[in-house]
Amino acid sequence: MSDTLSKLTYQTFQQGKSYFGLAHKTLSSRLMNLIHPTLGQKGKPIPREVLFKLQQKINQLLETDWEDAQKGVYPESLLFDNPWADFFRYYPLLCLDIPQIWERAEKQKYQEFSPEIETDGYPSYYVQNFHHQSNGYLSDDSANLYDLQVEILFNGTADPMRRRILAPLKQGLKAFDAVPPRQMRVLDVACGTGRTLKMIRAALPQASLYGVDLSPAYLRKANQQLSEIPGELPQLLQANAEELPYLNDYFHAVTSVFLFHELPAKVRQTVIEQCFRVTKPGGVFVICDSIQLSDSPEFAVTMDSFAEVFHEPYYRDYTHDDLVERLEKAGFEKIEVQVNFMSKYFIAHKPA
Ligand SMILES: C[S@@+](CC[C@H](N)C(=O)[O-])C[C@H]1O[C@@H](n2cnc3c(N)ncnc32)[C@H](O)[C@@H]1O
Repeated sequence: MSDTLSKLTYQTFQQGKSYFGLAHKTLSSRLMNLIHPTLGQKGKPIPREVLFKLQQKINQLLETDWEDAQKGVYPESLLFDNPWADFFRYYPLLCLDIPQIWERAEKQKYQEFSPEIETDGYPSYYVQNFHHQSNGYLSDDSANLYDLQVEILFNGTADPMRRRILAPLKQGLKAFDAVPPRQMRVLDVACGTGRTLKMIRAALPQASLYGVDLSPAYLRKANQQLSEIPGELPQLLQANAEELPYLNDYFHAVTSVFLFHELPAKVRQTVIEQCFRVTKPGGVFVICDSIQLSDSPEFAVTMDSFAEVFHEPYYRDYTHDDLVERLEKAGFEKIEVQVNFMSKYFIAHKPA
């Protein structure tokens, strides 16, 4: 396929995802306003000029995504990766789950779990219906719906945002040029359903990959998705990121995507310190999470709305938090910050 044609195909594919996300949200919020009018009053409407700026940021994100594939950071095929089978299988279930989500949101039930779900042994901050999700992160149904929910939430840009960790990750690994690719170890903290690990596998086909998460259901889903792709299977472990079950200085690189806004402030520091401990001297730590007020004040209204409409108990605090200060406190240096659409990236190095 010529470059122009494949770029056009990519843009059309992304536009399709965007229209789908918008259509889903418009229809479901109209229905919600009819059935639960009080919920419809939550979150301020987003002004037209902010919507315009958001569209500009999406265009920039997609351009960078395309360019990184052209530069060979990852194969072009990754741009078109979409879990189609899951989409057709689970979209109807996602719709069927919506009335329960509204009910929980209206009654402000934030810690509601089915009797068969084991909640003992998890930290209390974690036993929550984040985003009003049925059974939080603790059921197989939740794991099956999660990727689709996130893609709809971000109008199809969740994967392009996740992919922005790949260039700094590969750049950071250059510090270990003498290490054979097979001996390169990369850990993804809070790997969830394995979406980021799948991308890292495409960018680093030979590296040894590791994933850690608190949710057994999400790890089962990750194992299932990652088993379907060629290459060595990443090693997945159920553990709390506050006590990473790995040796000191073990990984050449550590990544974490969309975790920190779901942690209380004190836990954010502990997790950063753990990531520092397991990173090799000279290694890189790449965080991707939500934008913050300090560098994206023009999107304050969207951040406010996210905190209010979704159940995200630590998000507001996160938007004010100084993660650079936290990373420095843990011992990281040469910290670079980037912003792409609704995500912010912290690229930090452990002194060699
Ligand atoms: C918003 S999801 C992000 C998942 C994935 N990284 C992604 O890109 O979609 C947050 C994830 O963090 C995990 N998590 C939350 N607190 C954790 C902790 N203390 N230790 C390990 N995992 C945690 C959850 O189980 C969930 O899979």
